[in-house]
Amino acid sequence: MTTNENNFQAIISHAKEYGFVFQSSEIYDGLSAVYDYGPYGSELKKNIKDYWWRSMTQFHENIVGIDAAIFMHPTTWKASGHVDNFSDPMIDNKDSNKRYRVDHLIEGYAEELTAQGKEKESEELITEMDRLLAAEDFTALKKLLEQHKISCAVSGTCNWTDIRQFNLMFSTQVGSVTEESDTIYLRPETAQGIFVNFLNVQKTARMKIPFGIAQIGKAFRNEIVARQFIFRMREFEQMEMQFFIRPGTQAQWFEYWKKTRLDWHLSLGIPADKYRYHNHVKLAHYADAALDIEYEFPFGFKEVEGIHSRTDFDLKSHQAYSGKKMQYFDNEINQNYIPYVIETSIGLDRMFLLIMSHAYEEETITKEDGSTDSRSVLHFPALLAPVKLAVLPLTKKDGLPEIARDLMNDCKTAFRCFYEEKDAIGKRYRRQDAIGTPFCVTIDHQTKEDQTVTIRYRDSMKQERVPLDKVKQLVQQAVA
Ligand code: GAP
Repeated sequence: MTTNENNFQAIISHAKEYGFVFQSSEIYDGLSAVYDYGPYGSELKKNIKDYWWRSMTQFHENIVGIDAAIFMHPTTWKASGHVDNFSDPMIDNKDSNKRYRVDHLIEGYAEELTAQGKEKESEELITEMDRLLAAEDFTALKKLLEQHKISCAVSGTCNWTDIRQFNLMFSTQVGSVTEESDTIYLRPETAQGIFVNFLNVQKTARMKIPFGIAQIGKAFRNEIVARQFIFRMREFEQMEMQFFIRPGTQAQWFEYWKKTRLDWHLSLGIPADKYRYHNHVKLAHYADAALDIEYEFPFGFKEVEGIHSRTDFDLKSHQAYSGKKMQYFDNEINQNYIPYVIETSIGLDRMFLLIMSHAYEEETITKEDGSTDSRSVLHFPALLAPVKLAVLPLTKKDGLPEIARDLMNDCKTAFRCFYEEKDAIGKRYRRQDAIGTPFCVTIDHQTKEDQTVTIRYRDSMKQERVPLDKVKQLVQQAVA
């Protein structure tokens, strides 16, 4: 195992041990590619959602939010192209019966080449794969696998079936079995809930182009290759925004959202060199330009967010299938048109994994006497941390818990606090480091004399005395 793989395994273990992420239905041995968020995980996830929601709907006067249902009329997915096009090229190994996504197999091999110092060969392979995927030339794609002797990780053989397309949507039935029933789908993206509500929102919120509609919600995909923890799930959450614009202005708005979204990531204090853009060679059926914002996860640079120029494909297609006009009257130019759309689409669970990967550290601490110690710490940006302040009376007696409780009661209406009396103070600090609490405050005997407390900063582990009545303001400023 490489250091990075060890690091990734350590993050997964830490996420479970400290109540961030659990395998779904674990007592029944789990359900592949489905996860539950625990007490601290659900707080972190909510904080990421809030930060995104605020940056979209509060900081942009021309973006409003909606919360559409997961179930939609089945024709939605005919119109969107998902029934016909939402598939991945898959291949089975005849000896192990294991199924793979072809692009994942080739990318995995390319990564091995890079690790062996054969960067040029690796790049050429990916370029050729992209070209063949774009041309949907599956015969040549299979030849590429054979030519490079890319084998199955389980059987070790190259005994492959032909490549086939596999639709990723989950379907179910509505209505009772005896009455008329119909196949409906669990939405594979939240975007369509926005498109079908375009006119409802535009009219009721009196929006003028350019304007956006934002939404956070669950999406479902029958991913065949379930890998890398919460990176690729079958049930996940998306934070999507569709920005409706005048036809012909898409190139300029694509550039705007490309930069604005990367700036949002950087605003969390994550270094710019951990990110890169990746332009799509094979465009989705609805796009005239697309790119991914990639982050360097412990397993390499991977997509965390997509920016897509979706043209007027979706609204035009819904107009055709529903027979309802999807046009907007632009009174500035006195014209009716179907708007074009720029989409920003980020996976909430991937953003969660990004934040965990960035924050996690196994730190070695050198003490004053030269001896060393270690701690597991999550360096979350303060505004995303599940708990902002831990209130810790030094002892359980002498009136210290009463002072601590008063502070706790004053602060807990403003931000999430944690109260604890048990164990030595050092142990309590370590537990807070492990869940990423940026501030700990200790109430001791001196507090009774001069109304000051010790505040301890998670990242530097520095401690200083501050007035008791300044604690709330200090934390509030840091988490705003
Ligand atoms: N509406 C456009 C759309 O859905 P996408 O690139 O397929 O585009 C957008 O998905 C984002 O959703 C991705 O960048 C990723 O962060 C997240 N995502 C997609 N599939 C996922 C999965 N199986 N598990 C977790 N996140 C996923």
